[in-house]
Amino acid sequence: MICPILKRHVLFICGYCVEYFTNVFIIKSVKTCFGGNRTMKIFAYGIRQDEQAALREWESNHPEVEVDFTDKLLDPETAKLAKGADAVDVYQQLSYTPETLTALHELGINKMSLRNVGTDNIDFDTARRFDFSISNVAVYSPNAIAEHAAIQGARVLRQTKPLDNKIANHDLRWAPTIGREVRMQTFGIIGTGHIGRVLINILKGFGAKIVAYDVYRNPELEAEGIYVDTLDELYAQADVISLHVPSLPENYHMINAESIAKMKDDVVLINVSRGDLMDIDAIVDGLDSGKIFGLAMDVYEKEVGLFNSDWSDKEFPDAKIADLIARENVLVTPHTAFYTTKAVYEMVTQSMDASLAFIKGEETPNEVKY
Ligand code: COI
Repeated sequence: MICPILKRHVLFICGYCVEYFTNVFIIKSVKTCFGGNRTMKIFAYGIRQDEQAALREWESNHPEVEVDFTDKLLDPETAKLAKGADAVDVYQQLSYTPETLTALHELGINKMSLRNVGTDNIDFDTARRFDFSISNVAVYSPNAIAEHAAIQGARVLRQTKPLDNKIANHDLRWAPTIGREVRMQTFGIIGTGHIGRVLINILKGFGAKIVAYDVYRNPELEAEGIYVDTLDELYAQADVISLHVPSLPENYHMINAESIAKMKDDVVLINVSRGDLMDIDAIVDGLDSGKIFGLAMDVYEKEVGLFNSDWSDKEFPDAKIADLIARENVLVTPHTAFYTTKAVYEMVTQSMDASLAFIKGEETPNEVKY
């Protein structure tokens, strides 16, 4: 026989050979048991570099599932990449149109797990017609978004952008970039779901006063007496207003010329939720007139195709965003409030868990009831 160590013919096998052949046998057996017998398949779309480690970890923890992925987004054309899969895992701002869902249905796929929370870009009529099971990741890390809102709001209050610009230009004078202290402000929190509640706790740490509004009240916050009965009351009392509500028809452009007129002078606005909650033209008018002291925005109604793209050598294709970015009292971030290592890990892991639950016919707390 040939010795695997010496690579030549020998008469007897030694301890090393026994170990070598045993290992080969074990590895082969493991591969056959797990790798070769993957009985389910999940295909993931739009996988970024920063998501791959979590996806690989999930795959190695689930040897019964074959995981395949692409960095491409899901559309009617790329749907065919999922052929043979039992479920798809997706995150994208691109809409899940009737054509896209039909393309999946034609491949026999009707299980779709979103790695994000928002479901406003899904055509639910088509999803219903093809009996799609859909999940989202409702709570991946409320802290990621709440912290971003708190940090950006505080930066607007302390005028860090004009101060940084002055420092970069070697102007180290104090005035006129004087700050407002967080603890001296009344924060109006619109929406007291997971994110709104974390933000309230962060702001309490600063010593800020809080008023909140939500159609569904949280019993603990109710007991603390922080709710106001109407948005008008919140507008009248708040120095800083932060939005934490979903994009629903009834919330469309809730911040508009009329609501801005009801707010205090020098109000600070924070939007880390959805762009269409704000009528951006009314906001620009408020910034121009000085009614609005500053704005922190992580979302923009026309952000699809604009955010998460590199415009460093080009003009922005949207004059409004170019104007907002140039303003010293406006902080624009390209929908990055969610973008933390913790949130990305949870989005990948929880969505894959949900896909697997759908395939196995099990319940998942992340199922979207529609
Ligand atoms: C969502 O989870 O719906 C978000 O808005 C974050 C997204 C950019 C991943």
